[in-house]
Amino acid sequence: MSKVASGKIKKSSSKLLDEFNASIMFDKELYKEDIKGSIAHVKMLYKQGIISNESMRKIIDGLEVIKKEIENGEYNFDIKDEDIHMSIENRLTKLIGDDAKRVHTARSRNDQVALDFRMYVLRNFKEISTLLLELEKVLLDIEKEHVETLLPGMTHLQHAQPINFAYHLLAYSSMFKRDIERFESSYKRNNISPIGCAALAGTPYKSDREYEAELLGFESVSINCLDTVSDRDFALEMLFNISVLMMHISRLSEELILWSSSEFSFVELSDEYSTSSSIMPQKKNPDVPELLRGKTGRCYGNLISLLTVMKGLPLAYNKDMQEDKEGVFDSVKTVKISIKILTEALKTMSIKADKMQQATKVGHLSATDLADYLTTKCGYTFRDAYKLTGEIVGYADDKGKDVSELSLKELQKFEPNIKDDVLSILQLKNSMNARNSQGGTSIEQTKKQIEFFQKWLDS
Ligand code: ARG
Repeated sequence: MSKVASGKIKKSSSKLLDEFNASIMFDKELYKEDIKGSIAHVKMLYKQGIISNESMRKIIDGLEVIKKEIENGEYNFDIKDEDIHMSIENRLTKLIGDDAKRVHTARSRNDQVALDFRMYVLRNFKEISTLLLELEKVLLDIEKEHVETLLPGMTHLQHAQPINFAYHLLAYSSMFKRDIERFESSYKRNNISPIGCAALAGTPYKSDREYEAELLGFESVSINCLDTVSDRDFALEMLFNISVLMMHISRLSEELILWSSSEFSFVELSDEYSTSSSIMPQKKNPDVPELLRGKTGRCYGNLISLLTVMKGLPLAYNKDMQEDKEGVFDSVKTVKISIKILTEALKTMSIKADKMQQATKVGHLSATDLADYLTTKCGYTFRDAYKLTGEIVGYADDKGKDVSELSLKELQKFEPNIKDDVLSILQLKNSMNARNSQGGTSIEQTKKQIEFFQKWLDS
């Protein structure tokens, strides 16, 4: 029978219940936080005169031993102990005897689990941000090399207007920057200590929550204990932030998959980060971006699953809430390895600037510039200019040419007022550079964006 069931419940629990009720198989992930929290807790109990110095010492030493046992793989995680909190307390009792039974004074597993889980989530907000900064650096390195690499900018996956590759990747730099800021703001908002709330209503002991929070590095102490032991918003924020980040990663992955197809051939993933087919020897498959795209699904699932667990729960703690951890652990692990492997795949992929350049010759990317020319230089309304440009594009198609390759004579057949200045306007690089409005794709604006990200990374 587990130690927790020894109050009102006299018979030992059934094996089936032990198995069903236990969370130790997964919440052992929280052992570091649990030990850290207990050490801070007994320091506070001693400072407040609730336990003796000797008890505190013995407990801390015992907890350090347990930490080593776990880290050396010598620790026995037993489902009979139910969860990591009871497991460590039971082991401590075996190690140091009755003093161990003082560690749970003025707290409950409800604030204990809220503390451990929150500390885990806070630590990972930071670790994920750090990994994302590495990804940002790699993107920026690529961007610096490709300001002059033209490729077709697309809408509806159709050639639209010429842009450069740096500009395209800068869109992702912007997304990942928002992601980092989201993790950082979640960290700030949730850096609040839950410990000392006890089961739901606070504790009659003269505890010092401020001191305990300070020992654990929290910014402040939670306001209302009932809320604190019921609150899993911090975990939901983690799942939401990861979901948005994975959605960004998935969109980039989708582009990498397209770009590495023979139809695009814009990039080639390195051998190290590509896989082969079991039957077709000529194949090199983009499994990395495909898996990144695929893993996004489970991260969304984890978010929806915890939102659903929480939605109907009366205050305060309910055992349903034990379901909060596996999804978070899974999403955190998934997103960390995802960022790492994406960073490496980008760092090692080759970029085929010539193929990108070649692709700009298709799809009349400067057709909008021709319409603008007819409007500003030849007195057309934009709608009429749009219509005439459509006719010119049709003609170019018939001739197997891009609109930027038409001669002045050919253009003048449609509109005699077109002058030879149009020829340079229709050149793709000039078309790109014409988009010099703030945040646009011109080389000047692209360089400004790179500078912005460089400053941000340096700060
Ligand atoms: N293993 C539990 C969980 O993860 C710990 C809290 C248990 N509290 C309780 N009153 N049963 O949620």
